[in-house]
Amino acid sequence: MQYDRIKDILAKEPLNEKIEIRGWLRTRRDAKDFSFLELNDGSCLANLQIIASSDLGNYQDVIVKLHTGCSLKVTGELKESPAKGQKIELHAEEIDIYGWADPEIYPLQKKRHSYEFLRTIAHLRPRTNSLGAIARIRSSLSFSVHQFFHTHGFVYVHTPIITTIDCEGAGEMFKVVAPEDVLNDISGIQSNADFFGKPANLTVSGQLQAEVYAMALGKVYTFGPTFRAENSNTSRHLAEFWMVEPEMAFYDLADNMNLAESFLKYLVRHTLENDSEDLHLFANFVDKNLYRKLQNILEEPFSRITYTEAIKLLQKSPQKFDFPVEWGTDLQAEHERYLCEEIFDRPLFVTDYPRDIKPFYMRINDDNATVAAMDLLLPGIGEIIGGSQREERYDVLVSRMQEMHLNLDEYNWYLDLRRYGTVIHSGFGLGFERFLQFITAMKNIREVIPFPRTPGSALY
Ligand code: 4AD
Ligand code: MG
Repeated sequence: MQYDRIKDILAKEPLNEKIEIRGWLRTRRDAKDFSFLELNDGSCLANLQIIASSDLGNYQDVIVKLHTGCSLKVTGELKESPAKGQKIELHAEEIDIYGWADPEIYPLQKKRHSYEFLRTIAHLRPRTNSLGAIARIRSSLSFSVHQFFHTHGFVYVHTPIITTIDCEGAGEMFKVVAPEDVLNDISGIQSNADFFGKPANLTVSGQLQAEVYAMALGKVYTFGPTFRAENSNTSRHLAEFWMVEPEMAFYDLADNMNLAESFLKYLVRHTLENDSEDLHLFANFVDKNLYRKLQNILEEPFSRITYTEAIKLLQKSPQKFDFPVEWGTDLQAEHERYLCEEIFDRPLFVTDYPRDIKPFYMRINDDNATVAAMDLLLPGIGEIIGGSQREERYDVLVSRMQEMHLNLDEYNWYLDLRRYGTVIHSGFGLGFERFLQFITAMKNIREVIPFPRTPGSALY
């Protein structure tokens, strides 16, 4: 069979051809001598309209009993549709049912359900229009991420999920432990939790391992799940989220920001070109300004200010903040959003944060008070990217690590990168779900990952 996905059928409209299609019923409407069936197979938002005539052998026994959620196979011929609403329809010659969905108990009824309710049935929610569209956009954007780096000469590196280092130094790591009966058989273990001979955790970032490969291959990236055991129950935080992390030898902070800007523009352009049907849903029903917001990313250069300038702007502003604004403290979400929504109204890089609020690996600036860090803030979201130029000077790095009470023995391998052929280098991490929130205008991050993990909740 040449066409087996509704998306291809709607795109190519192979009229008068014999079609066999499988999917799930969205709705059934009965007319005098036939029924309209709306079939969806997940390949696209649109349904295929099926005309099921009362001449069909199983019309009385099966067709008129079909309900939302039933799974079907339909064979027939594709015709032009005389009615408004769709250009083509499938005239069924045979309809077979795979599985019923009892309308008395099937949780997804025709009415609109709240996103909160849908989260409680995360195993069924991809069957809804919006969650299905998000899944397709997520897949399409993942592909674009790889495409961007591939066409820009980057090597994709699989950094480990289980790690024995703490990249961010924030102590927000989930522990990895093995069962005791397994451990009893392994000699030389330090404690009854250590499968690996030392404590291990789920990674919070692949950056430090990506640096290893950048120091050999020049330009690399990693794209995978990361884990944070922070007790943040907000609409922007997950305990398991995906991060895109490029790392580039010979890039300084400005090169790093330029790359981040062209990367984001590339992703937005690609989603506008490739996901228009799904995007339209969000522009229609979730945020009427969505296209303007996305265009805004493409048209203007992103703004850039230093942290010190940002503090001055916030202190001068008439806005009352819950958290005080003071040089030396981290920017809170309310400050970030005020800066990029009210003052700049476009994406904003904030650079050169105080050294005391940033991790050990960031390069110390000449002022000795700030580091070559950059955060990218997006309107409506806040921080979407965190990155920096890395400290490439051996002595400076060692003294900074000592200052932060890191165990140097654990990081000897990281220091080797500075002992042997050190170069300036930079990188950043894009929070993939926060980016998807920006693209789909979803208010809560739990809607843009298939199976959200947050404090108190991990279904399946
Ligand atoms: O700013 P972060 O912590 O940076 C790093 O981890 C660096 N090692 C990245 C690098 O330079 N290679 O995290 C990067 C981004 C944030 O800007 C945010 O978008 C996202 O990851 N992020 C989260 N997304 C969802 N839930 C959470 N709990 C997140 N924490 C960070
Ligand atoms: Mg950050």
